[in-house]
Amino acid sequence: MHPLAQKDLNYVWHPFTQMQDWAKEEPIVIKSGKGAVLKDQHNRSYLDANASIWTNLHGHRHPAIDKVIQNQLKKIAHSSALGFANEPASLLAEQLVKTANRPALFKDAGSGYKNPKLGKVFFSDDGSTALEVALKLAYEHARRSGKGHRPKFLSIDHAYHGDTIGAVSVGQVDLFHKSFSGLLFSSDKAMSPYCYRCPFNKAKPERADARDYRKCNWECVGKVGQHFEAGQKKKTNYAGFVFEPVVQGVAGMVGQPEGWLKRVATLARQAEVPLIADEVMTGFGRTGSIFASHQEGIQPDFLCLAKGLTGGYLPMAATLTTQAVYENFLGPYDSFKSFFHGHSYTGNQLGASAALASLGLLKKTGSAPGRRKLQQHLKQSLAPLWKSPFVGDIRQSGLVAGIELVEDWRTRKPWPIQKQVGIQICREMAALGVLTRPIGNVIVLMPPYCCSETQVHKMTRALTRAIEKVLGSAHI
Ligand SMILES: Cc1ncc(COP(=O)(O)O)c(C=O)c1O
Repeated sequence: MHPLAQKDLNYVWHPFTQMQDWAKEEPIVIKSGKGAVLKDQHNRSYLDANASIWTNLHGHRHPAIDKVIQNQLKKIAHSSALGFANEPASLLAEQLVKTANRPALFKDAGSGYKNPKLGKVFFSDDGSTALEVALKLAYEHARRSGKGHRPKFLSIDHAYHGDTIGAVSVGQVDLFHKSFSGLLFSSDKAMSPYCYRCPFNKAKPERADARDYRKCNWECVGKVGQHFEAGQKKKTNYAGFVFEPVVQGVAGMVGQPEGWLKRVATLARQAEVPLIADEVMTGFGRTGSIFASHQEGIQPDFLCLAKGLTGGYLPMAATLTTQAVYENFLGPYDSFKSFFHGHSYTGNQLGASAALASLGLLKKTGSAPGRRKLQQHLKQSLAPLWKSPFVGDIRQSGLVAGIELVEDWRTRKPWPIQKQVGIQICREMAALGVLTRPIGNVIVLMPPYCCSETQVHKMTRALTRAIEKVLGSAHI
């Protein structure tokens, strides 16, 4: 056992991990990284196939991001945003607002409702805190706008918005959230568009030889609409509709059919319910455009960003909102209308510098076409996996892919979670030099944007071999 691995076993408690199992083998200790490649304590190389839990955009040790962090370090690493402004945070806030307010969005989203403009940025540290900020702001904004004493939130099934208490309260993953139910505030849950397991059986499986396709009538949109109608009748109305646009990550990389978001957002706007877009995973080009909501022509009232904000370098988050929300918190000092919320490292200079450099790289000519090309490589490379009887669904939105493994593709029967099929497959992939983490029976591939075609093929080849090894002959 390498001494660093031993120290980890002795002292570290890992997130979302059964530590009894963790202690059974020598953990992989990441010691360095370059581009899409990570190196461990024994100098073994791995591809970072989930972009270090969905954070890394341009690869590790990118010279442009390294340089700005080094330059910033020569000035200062951190000073408080409580009482003082700082250079990179101000510049970043301006860039985020400009990036979010693409002019094309403001004609209208095709829904008859004018999209709002985002004008203010509230910084925090992680995805969960970006959501906490949005929830608190939306709650107080709703109360101050006469929406009742305790307005509620609506979110969708299988939603994951983080681990802090507010974020968990609007999350809908029973496995993670049930045991904390006593700590949570109540929120409403609407149906999610999980086409592969659509209860109306009207989804179109992507599999070419599928025969059970019937026309979808957007029943799932109607189900969301029922909540807005009920909310209006009770005259309580919602403080916000919280959603992950285009693809729900922790749900199992469940992509929404094109048009779903536009439709539900229109219903929300008709009911005067603010939109809270959780772009913690989808933000910064993952699904195509810089922000996923914009792919559906939607500008939310609250835009929550984290993970890729700093290119995957440093913990930093941002919640963008409108001038109208901001003004609801203005008043004389003794009206105590201030937003009483904030963290010690809010607006951290190193994080903000990294974020500015990362945004710069994203906006470079060639960045978007490069991502589109990589997306095509990923799609082509995954295609042969459809032949496996254990592959139920391959879902891809931009550079996010989820491969759902089942006992039999015809029945779509899920593997019992106790079998740890996803965990076993990821372990085999690691032995083949590819690191990722499963979500139950779903294997995630989320390559950093710097990946080559060869590296993408190595990822899918490792997945194919791992399926064969763990589940038997896969006929691929
Ligand atoms: C959509 C979404 N929101 C929020 C979070 C929470 O982010 P963090 O882990 O940085 O707190 C995650 C994390 O996976 C996420 O995927």
